[in-house]
Amino acid sequence: MHNPQLLENLLRKLPMGACMVDVEFRIVFWNDFFSDRLGLEEKDVMGQSLLELFPEQARFLKKKINSVFILKNESFSYWEQRPHIFQFQSSRPITGEETLMFQNMEILPLMDENKEVQYACITIQDVTAQASYYNELSKAADELDQEHKEQARLIQKLEDTKSQLIQSEKMASIGQLAAGVAHEINSPIGFVSSNLQCLQDYAEKLIKVGAFAAKLIDKTGDTTFAKLKHDFYERNEFDYIKDEVVDVINESLDGAERVKVIVKSLKEFSHADTKSWAHSNLVEGIESTLKITNSEFKCKVELVKDYEPNIPPLFCMVMQLNQVFMNLLLNAGQAIDDSGHIYIKVYTEGKWQKVSIRDTGHGIAPDNLSKIFDPFFSTKPVGSGTGLGLSLSYGIIKNHGGDIEVKSEVGKGTEFIVCLPQRSESEIAELN
Ligand SMILES: Nc1ncnc2c1ncn2[C@@H]1O[C@H](COP(=O)(O)OP(=O)(O)OP(=O)(O)O)[C@@H](O)[C@H]1O
Ligand SMILES: [Mg+2]
Repeated sequence: MHNPQLLENLLRKLPMGACMVDVEFRIVFWNDFFSDRLGLEEKDVMGQSLLELFPEQARFLKKKINSVFILKNESFSYWEQRPHIFQFQSSRPITGEETLMFQNMEILPLMDENKEVQYACITIQDVTAQASYYNELSKAADELDQEHKEQARLIQKLEDTKSQLIQSEKMASIGQLAAGVAHEINSPIGFVSSNLQCLQDYAEKLIKVGAFAAKLIDKTGDTTFAKLKHDFYERNEFDYIKDEVVDVINESLDGAERVKVIVKSLKEFSHADTKSWAHSNLVEGIESTLKITNSEFKCKVELVKDYEPNIPPLFCMVMQLNQVFMNLLLNAGQAIDDSGHIYIKVYTEGKWQKVSIRDTGHGIAPDNLSKIFDPFFSTKPVGSGTGLGLSLSYGIIKNHGGDIEVKSEVGKGTEFIVCLPQRSESEIAELN
């Protein structure tokens, strides 16, 4: 069926653009796709320069068409790179909605009998439907991705909350125990110390009576009585007791006073309102924590304190920070096997208040160093460590806008430095 007219008609009616230009970019053919969209008949554009007709794409079209004439090869341009070469409209099949047409362009070389490129044939395919479908799909994929990220964030938050809950349960039960013990000790230590005070009074009086009786006997000048008194007083070590008894009672009173202080700090520690922000002194916090942790490692650890004087109070949740110090101190004590030192240093550096807790314990293996802040990471025997201490401490420090640094050498020891910014109340409020 070699009917050129028929073929030409077919070419004119094709549902895609076809336009032929010569080497000077002059239009020699232009099908209905172009006429319909531009409102220009073929006869109106015949011989005109394609580049002048589409000046805003002239540079691009010129480069593409030239490459076809020179390289004698097809040239392509897909919608992903250049969606709208010709500013045509396209209507959607069902809704009829008009949008700018997405196009794929292919430029084909048309050869003469000497295999020279005579014309370049520009074909345009309307791919608006595919492009919008693709765009919608990728938008949906982006949304899905976003949702995934949001879900991951929520799961992480849930994990954090879970570990916080476990830790606060742990702290609450320690707190309850501490409060219970404190309560039980409170009343006996109360009457022990008030009885001791009475005893001190009674003892002083008894000594006076004894001394007076001795004086009276001496006054009578009766040698038998004097000898009997002397022997009796000697046998019962009256002189020694008279000097000692007051000291013994004073020491006991001191001891009872110390017990009272410990009970007080236990009560403070189990204080329910742990989340309140206030201006507090870090050194005081550390000291009250030490009263609780001390008993854990008193016999094997020597504490060395170095507190910078006159550090101003810090706006913080001191009960929460005490939990951090407690965990760091317990970890330090637990890292020391037979005997060693814990150095506690509190100092300021620019706008930071820093607390360094350094031990001469067994240290942390380099492989573990990156894991110690992970929830549930513990190298302690099952049942003795939850692995939550440091992860919670980290959370508490972050809530304060601070940071925690760790340096460790196996066999030598570990240092944790808690860095807390001195911020105003409003700056802290912004953080939380
Ligand atoms: N000062 C330290 N010296 C050596 N290792 C330490 C020190 N501090 C922490 N670690 C290591 O980090 C791990 C995690 O500490 P973390 O306080 O989070 O949990 P834990 O002490 O094991 O358990 P928990 O605090 O519940 O008792 C510890 O098991 C230990 O291996
Ligand atoms: Mg711990």
